[in-house]
Amino acid sequence: MSKSLLVVVVLLYTIFMSAKAAYNVVDFGARSGGKIDSTKAFQAAWAAVCRSTKPATIQVPRGRFLLNRIAFRGPCKNTKINFRIYGTLVAPSYTVIGTANQWIWFYKVEGLSIYGGVLDGQGTSLYACKLAKRRCPGGAASVMFFGMKNLLISGLTSINSELAHIVINGCQDVSMRGIKIIAPDESPNTDGLHVQMSKGITITKSNIKTGDDCISIGPGMVNLWVEGVFCGPGHGISIGSLGKVVDEPGVQNITVRSVTFSGTQNGLRIKTWGRHSKGFVKGVLFEHAVMQNVKFPIVIDQNYCPTLKGCPGQHSGIKISDVRYNDIRGTSATEVAVKLDCSRSNPCRGIVLQDVKLTYKNKPALSSCKHAVGKVKGVVALAPPSCL
Ligand SMILES: *[C@@H]1O[C@H](CO)[C@@H](O)[C@H](O)[C@H]1NC(C)=O
Repeated sequence: MSKSLLVVVVLLYTIFMSAKAAYNVVDFGARSGGKIDSTKAFQAAWAAVCRSTKPATIQVPRGRFLLNRIAFRGPCKNTKINFRIYGTLVAPSYTVIGTANQWIWFYKVEGLSIYGGVLDGQGTSLYACKLAKRRCPGGAASVMFFGMKNLLISGLTSINSELAHIVINGCQDVSMRGIKIIAPDESPNTDGLHVQMSKGITITKSNIKTGDDCISIGPGMVNLWVEGVFCGPGHGISIGSLGKVVDEPGVQNITVRSVTFSGTQNGLRIKTWGRHSKGFVKGVLFEHAVMQNVKFPIVIDQNYCPTLKGCPGQHSGIKISDVRYNDIRGTSATEVAVKLDCSRSNPCRGIVLQDVKLTYKNKPALSSCKHAVGKVKGVVALAPPSCL
């Protein structure tokens, strides 16, 4: 056999094999149109993909596919699974989901890559129920990833989740890029991306419009990289709330850079309960952030005690250290643009404000510090430039 013929044969074989390893949910009985429940079909397609001993793809064509609560469970037989979504996954009514942790669950899969797709959480009627203060179930996050390793989520859109849109919990090495989050400004508790108890997450080139935090960073998050994110409307990018319980793993090595906040409630925030805890926040870099009419651009609030139960009179046990704000500029919608309100018993240490230029009504905005220790570098256009 000539060399070129061999190449052709190998090529054809590769195409044949990879074609065989694609599983279209429609072949398993999924029906588009958004009315017929396709949960069983998706489950069957997933089982085939997960059983496959070689790289495999589960494919969702264009159209709207109604799914009830569903779990895509590992461990799987191979560590290269693609989930290609061209269409939309549609959640059932909130009365069907009730109060659950999540609508879609990915559990202990290694080497999963999700490309494209829209998740429609159909949360609008639940928001209306909650805003009218009627009796309604808590709702569910749209998708939760738990115990995943080497996860890629690329180009996924989430619309109107009942609670958080995308939750990453207990995972390792996660990359999210080109994520789009859409929910109304007034939708309650709709965090965009929530990450916690995980090691190594990057979030890049994403656009988040929602009713709660654009990105919220929970306990035990280590090595997080956020770059190129637009946030607004929303409550900003927030580390916390932390320290609700005593034994809580710390948050460490967090970088948030090149982000824009537009009309948000907060910009860059660290928030801890005003009560005893062994947790910490260590090594945070916030840099190159643009604030456009943000209510509270830079916030450390260590006195969070929303219901005034179990914390009055206590000081936060969370130790905050090495937090750097570099090149933060733009406009504040309130007079005090920088508010560092740290714990009386555990003052913030190693705070650096470098090149921070924030204005309120065309004048330098105010800064206010309590129990915060650190220094000012470069040009800090605030009044006073340093309250540290
Ligand atoms: C901090 O996290 C980044 C990724 O966000 C990683 O590249 C770096 O190695 C981490 N630093 C340490 C000291 O672990």
